[in-house]
Amino acid sequence: MASTLSKHDINGDWASSAPNLKKNLSLLSSEQIELPKMLLEMGQSHLFEHWPEPGVDDDEKRAFFDQVAKLNASYPGGLASYIRTARELLAESKEGKNPFDGFTPSVPSGEVLTYGDENFVQFEEAGVREGRNAAFVLVAGGLGERLGYNGIKVALPSESTTGTCFLQLYIESILALQDASCRLAEGGCKRQIPLVIMTSDDTHARTMELLESNAYFGMVPTQVTLLKQEKVACLDDNDARLAVDSHNKYRIQTKPHGHGDVHSLLYSSGLLNKWRDAGLRWVLFFQDTNGLLFKAIPAALGVSATKQYHVNSLAVPRKAKEPIGGIARLTHSDGRTMVINVEYNQLDPLLRATGYADGDVNSETGFSHFPGNINQLIIELGHYIEELTKTGGAIKEFVNPKYKDSTKTAFKSSTRLECMMQDYPKTLPSSARVGFTVMDTWLAYAPVKNNPEDAAKVPKGNPYHSATSGEMAIYRANSLILRKAGVKVDDPVNQVFNGQEVEVWSRIVWKPKWALTFSEVRSKVKGSCCISQKSTMVIKGRNIFLEDLSLDGALVIDSVDDAEVIVGDSVQNKGWILESVDYKDASVPEEVRIRGFRINKIEQLEKSFNESGKFCLKP
Ligand code: UTP
Repeated sequence: MASTLSKHDINGDWASSAPNLKKNLSLLSSEQIELPKMLLEMGQSHLFEHWPEPGVDDDEKRAFFDQVAKLNASYPGGLASYIRTARELLAESKEGKNPFDGFTPSVPSGEVLTYGDENFVQFEEAGVREGRNAAFVLVAGGLGERLGYNGIKVALPSESTTGTCFLQLYIESILALQDASCRLAEGGCKRQIPLVIMTSDDTHARTMELLESNAYFGMVPTQVTLLKQEKVACLDDNDARLAVDSHNKYRIQTKPHGHGDVHSLLYSSGLLNKWRDAGLRWVLFFQDTNGLLFKAIPAALGVSATKQYHVNSLAVPRKAKEPIGGIARLTHSDGRTMVINVEYNQLDPLLRATGYADGDVNSETGFSHFPGNINQLIIELGHYIEELTKTGGAIKEFVNPKYKDSTKTAFKSSTRLECMMQDYPKTLPSSARVGFTVMDTWLAYAPVKNNPEDAAKVPKGNPYHSATSGEMAIYRANSLILRKAGVKVDDPVNQVFNGQEVEVWSRIVWKPKWALTFSEVRSKVKGSCCISQKSTMVIKGRNIFLEDLSLDGALVIDSVDDAEVIVGDSVQNKGWILESVDYKDASVPEEVRIRGFRINKIEQLEKSFNESGKFCLKP
């Protein structure tokens, strides 16, 4: 039962600046009374200006305080702290203050890997060994406004040959790493690698449903934890007056706070200490639609373990001025240093302001000196806990108001504070070992962020980051990996789908348990194999070996784990072909039309080996 209010609370002068609130105080319980007090102290009396007499809309008024209580509880330091920070950041923004004032950028040190060489293979081995000491964190609370897909992004097929959605691909990759790592452990191990998924009100229910209706894609349900981020209050002006929702005058308008919330949520969940007590050492953060990521994870984790990095950012070579953040070491005139992502539109002016007259230019390698951040982080758990204990997981925020005019006094629409996961190193001491691992883009990075119309407008040479390019990148990576392992894979052909010209390689897909690392791929390819451009190859079983295979058509092969299957000789059939579909054709399912093609399965050789033993597939 809520306790009743004291006389002071009901009659007190504290509410005299908001007479409409004062009249309604009897609606509140004594636990709630601190909330309006705080709001008035923080200059928010406008929120009550339109409140009618008691007896009118009382339930809505109570709901207002429920919302305020939630906003207060879900922000480190509460709503008052949010408003104070907002005022500071809005004042700095109005002044035009550069957040990097006083800092000089230089190129940080990190590891640049070449796929498949001895060094890479060694890092992969080290990474697989460490895999059982890792926890994975998927940030999947984003709306995906740019993509405009009606479902959640993790439910989108990563490719349409098998229709495997991103979440399934991620979970199967983590399970493959778990198995491979546990096999290396002395005496075996039974550890289940934890997976946390950060959701939001926009994605939570559908993420849960996707997991439940697919038996967690093979994970044990207790292995997966969903942490829901809350939105933050919107701000109407430079005094950080909270914005009233235009659809409901008893609600404060809210918007997403950004993926930086993941740190405070993990901290407050208590999971980090649990993981440390269970002997885990690494937390790997990743995003919702990168179908290539797990090809880079083993080696990157190996780099973290070998170099003892507290923070390791995965990166790709970046062309100067390419719209992707650059990882830079920043040194302040007062001696502070940090290794941090600098957004591309800040990097060039920062360089010019600090003595690099040409700004962000390519080096003799043809790429920028500063590697491109792909926002996948590997953080050492012990150090992470130490830091979060100091900060509570709060991440340096920023505000990005769109001003009505040059006086910078009014906004075009309400704004809010935001924070980014990759800003975590900003609060670290200079002694922290923050590095990066650069991998080829074809291996590590192909997110699905843009809708077909916007992707088609991307300037030539820049990546589309669409469902079309994300899928094609998977075929290209698998083709290039097989080539590196000695398979003769035909060159791609160029085709246009949804107005985007892409390279179409042989549609080669394998389950992560077939091969997670280059050594595994190499061990499963023997003799002289070749695959034509029109071919499709799907490998689903673990112990499937390609030996003198000549494929010109479609081949789908599955086996139970204790079957060993050799696939050889010549496989020839009409295969599966890509047929263009129009993005605007509403009769085609959305997940198909956003990539601009469908797969017409004309003819294939499909075989499943369901018993243990040794088999040969020779048609
Ligand atoms: P994106 O940059 O893709 O942003 O987020 P978004 O919000 O999903 O998409 P747009 O900008 O509206 O088009 C990068 C990653 O961070 C997650 C996303 O789900 C994605 O994995 N994210 C983003 C969150 O988890 N929470 C947020 O508040 C924002």
